[in-house]
Amino acid sequence: MEQLAHQQAETLAAIAAAASADALETIRIAALGKQGWISALLKTLGAMTPDQRSVEGPRIHAARESVTAALAARKADLENAELEQRLARETIDLTLPAPERPRGSIHPVSQVMDELAEIFADMGFAVASGPEIEDDWHNFTALNMPETHPARAMHDTFYFPDQDAAGRSMLLRTHTSPVQIRTMLAVVEKNPGGAPLRIIAPGRVYRSDSDATHTPMFHQVEGLVIDKGIHLGHLKWTLETFLKAYFERDDIVLRLRPSYFPFTEPSVEVDVGYTLVSGKRVLGGSEGWMELLGSGMVNRKVIEMGGLDPDVWQGFAFGVGVDRLAMLKYGMDDLRAFFDGDGRWLAHYGFGAGDVPTLSAGVGTQAGARA
Ligand code: PHE
Repeated sequence: MEQLAHQQAETLAAIAAAASADALETIRIAALGKQGWISALLKTLGAMTPDQRSVEGPRIHAARESVTAALAARKADLENAELEQRLARETIDLTLPAPERPRGSIHPVSQVMDELAEIFADMGFAVASGPEIEDDWHNFTALNMPETHPARAMHDTFYFPDQDAAGRSMLLRTHTSPVQIRTMLAVVEKNPGGAPLRIIAPGRVYRSDSDATHTPMFHQVEGLVIDKGIHLGHLKWTLETFLKAYFERDDIVLRLRPSYFPFTEPSVEVDVGYTLVSGKRVLGGSEGWMELLGSGMVNRKVIEMGGLDPDVWQGFAFGVGVDRLAMLKYGMDDLRAFFDGDGRWLAHYGFGAGDVPTLSAGVGTQAGARA
């Protein structure tokens, strides 16, 4: 068995001299591969007498062990050496000034929409969307506002002068509620029996109106839940849970007042309580009330327009101004400034790209502390 000692020494020497991972692999195959010399020796064990085997077995195994260990050790050495070389090569001069790049910021409206998506995702809501150039049917008729309905007049709608190719009157959507119809119809198309759904639909809406608290374009977020056995209690719980998470306060108190929207029945206007702290209104408590959003149980006629059977499916919906939510949380007082595109306003109220709202870190905590 001089032969084994000799081959083992040769292999170990080759390993020590190997200069690359590839060279090591070649050596490994020659020794331990299917056709390798150690594998060949292992195969001879079967033909030996028991006495012979008890002597040769341990020797061959020991050779295999030492070659395997040497391969692993050399591989680690080579890797370390390469890392050392790279670290030596890749230097950076920390005394150089960082390159000056124009730094943008996230608009508060985008930030708040991300916060809303985060909060509602936790309650099982998906984000839906619809077109800003809408047709009369989705924006009004399907929401229980036929052509002669007086509520249409209250919307200060921007109409397009011409009808579209299909003869529909087109307009800039006056609210996000048409997304309710689009979402229901899309669900029914996929599943004619209908299906429960929970969505929020944030987006731009348009009304011909302009002063300190109104801009011709503003943002709303629509909420819609359709399921079996849905009642006002679900609506109130959802809004309370949402507003507590959004304003990051547990003492948010809601007041529901009867109201009227053609697409909900009953309809409720939701007020949120505030407390006066050195003359300033701070949300929470119930010293005074401010109007926050419109909502209600989805009108049976709207559920029908959405292609669902109102005897089977019920739901609630709400619509709230995103800009207003941003103003209340981050302390801005003029809505028009939102859309002036003034870099100074954005630098002051904007959010860094790293201020990603998450429930675990607090939605908007970092920037909230700044405002
Ligand atoms: N679409 C209504 C508005 O713009 C708000 C609303 C949405 C009310 C959903 C009830 C239900 O004023």
